[in-house]
Amino acid sequence: MTRNAKLLSIVEKMAEMCRPDDIYWCNGSREEYDLMVRMMIHAGTAIQMNEAKRPNSIFVRSSPADVARVEDRTFICSDKQEDAGPTNNWADPREIKATLTKLFTGSMIGRTMYVIPYSMGPTGSRIAKIGIELTDSPYVVANMHIMTRVGSAVLEALGSDDDFVVGLHSVGDPLVDPADPDSPWPCNRDHKYICHFPETREIWSFGSGYGGNALLGKKCHALRIASVQARDEGWLAEHMLILKMTNPEGQSKYFTGAFPSACGKTNLAMLIPTIPGWKVETIGDDIAWMKFGPDGRLYAINPEAGFFGVAPGTSMQSNANAMLTARANSIFTNCAITPDGDVWWEGMTEEAPPELMDWLRRPWNPQSGRLAAHPNARFTTPAKQCPVIAPEWEDPNGVPIDAILFGGRRGTVIPLVTEAYNWQHGTFLGSITSSETTFAAAGRVGQLRRDPMAMLPFCGYHMGDYFAHWLRTGANADPEKLPKIYYVNWFRRDASGKFLWPGYGENSRVLKWIFERSNGSSEAIDTPIGRIPAPGALDTSGLDLDPAALEELLKVDILDWVSEVPLIKQHFETFGTRMPQGLWDELHRLKHILNQERRKISNND
Ligand code: GTP
Ligand code: SPV
Ligand code: MN
Repeated sequence: MTRNAKLLSIVEKMAEMCRPDDIYWCNGSREEYDLMVRMMIHAGTAIQMNEAKRPNSIFVRSSPADVARVEDRTFICSDKQEDAGPTNNWADPREIKATLTKLFTGSMIGRTMYVIPYSMGPTGSRIAKIGIELTDSPYVVANMHIMTRVGSAVLEALGSDDDFVVGLHSVGDPLVDPADPDSPWPCNRDHKYICHFPETREIWSFGSGYGGNALLGKKCHALRIASVQARDEGWLAEHMLILKMTNPEGQSKYFTGAFPSACGKTNLAMLIPTIPGWKVETIGDDIAWMKFGPDGRLYAINPEAGFFGVAPGTSMQSNANAMLTARANSIFTNCAITPDGDVWWEGMTEEAPPELMDWLRRPWNPQSGRLAAHPNARFTTPAKQCPVIAPEWEDPNGVPIDAILFGGRRGTVIPLVTEAYNWQHGTFLGSITSSETTFAAAGRVGQLRRDPMAMLPFCGYHMGDYFAHWLRTGANADPEKLPKIYYVNWFRRDASGKFLWPGYGENSRVLKWIFERSNGSSEAIDTPIGRIPAPGALDTSGLDLDPAALEELLKVDILDWVSEVPLIKQHFETFGTRMPQGLWDELHRLKHILNQERRKISNND
């Protein structure tokens, strides 16, 4: 197994507290995965799918009280409250550990504690990091097998090193549904805590079995803890997809993109270009770790090994590559079941099947008047099965990044695409990213909120310091070698609420413009908020788009932006004295130019 002294003592200490019947060290094998599946089926939480339709795949349902990340139960437990910043819930590390110790004590009686050694990033890569998750959930073990690199090779790579992240997870007391007492839900309604200890690089997660709350390698480690490590060590841990784009001449470029949860990362990472001769391949769909290479360029790796993708809306039309990736060896959480044991969700086919079992295993038909799949239903599927996975997706050195995209879900104001003037201005555009909330987190859907760099729920420290870290990263680099930064918005709507831009594969037109900007071969015009495509520079050939819609999509409305300024100011003020001056300078510059433009408009009237 391992002779790592720190690891052995942690496992012993945690087991003393949780009192599992057994301790099992995961080796990442196929047999181990099968064992987890058999246990879930036996416990009633999983159903095997039709082997002919969806080989080696299962349906899993979670509790209706446990279907998304819980931001109000997520805590950054830094020693000092001010280090968590105004956008995170903070708890005193000593107090919260006392509370959690009570909850974890005896929490694994009658269960097995699984010890999962995992690597975020190709095992042994200089950018990769190792973590150990201790959990009582076979669902977590099975998902971690797909989402990370698990097993003995990780322990070998770790050796006697004590630099690893420790995650402790228990689903807590099973919640029994009186209507179905034989299949208790693996979650704890009353006591959910997703706690991060950035100074000691620990995660303690209690009471949820779902996604980002429970698969601790993902949001907890690869973003909240890693963002702190990245700040300390001079790199970037970001909520970003990574894609490779190749033009008809065979030249390739790599882009990353940060959009908030359920705002299109998976879709963009796998898109099928609608412009002839262009190719897009996938490196990652959710998280990017970026470090400068010896040549001074910024290189990104995907720390994950699988996709935990939003199911509803995914179809052969919208994202064929995701559909093909999940054709086998996948876990479908909170999806509907067809009579022949295959999967279905809203948007998969134009017409719903006449009968289904819904995600809560109730009979369903199109007249039922409710959704068959939960809006945040997800597929867990191995990245290597993606038909357009880039051959270099596991390159331990990462891929050199040419452009970074920020974006959100905004019905108004934000144009289809804007190019930042420089790194500081791009950081500014990232810092003011706003988006309508989605079902990916518990709470109200459709509320507009600032979600800087799509990291609001995932930054493990004060976001004012995070902005400063971004500025420092740029200031220390050769400006010629830095990626260009863009702000995109696929979600602008017309007066009747319809999307103005067709999105999905058509987003390749925007990517093409960005690609050609870094070649110097496409034109842009300056506006107060950045550069937008010059007339005719965005390739719309073969696209049935009303010229008025295109005009609206690329419009920078001066008065709209004048009204944004006080809102941005308010947003910046929440970060107090830790808000870096460079971003205030950008806001003042924007305000000044907008005022000039406004005067021009009123003089013309
Ligand atoms: P997380 O996994 O939660 O981080 O989400 P994500 O950012 O990967 O989002 P994903 O690609 O799964 O898309 C989420 C939702 O946005 C789906 O319902 C998609 O159908 C929709 N969507 C994605 N791209 C587009 C687009 O270009 N236009 C429109 N209108 N909708 C899109
Ligand atoms: C997100 O919400 O951004 C996700 C899903 O990617 S989860 O893993 O639950 O965080
Ligand atoms: Mn995500």
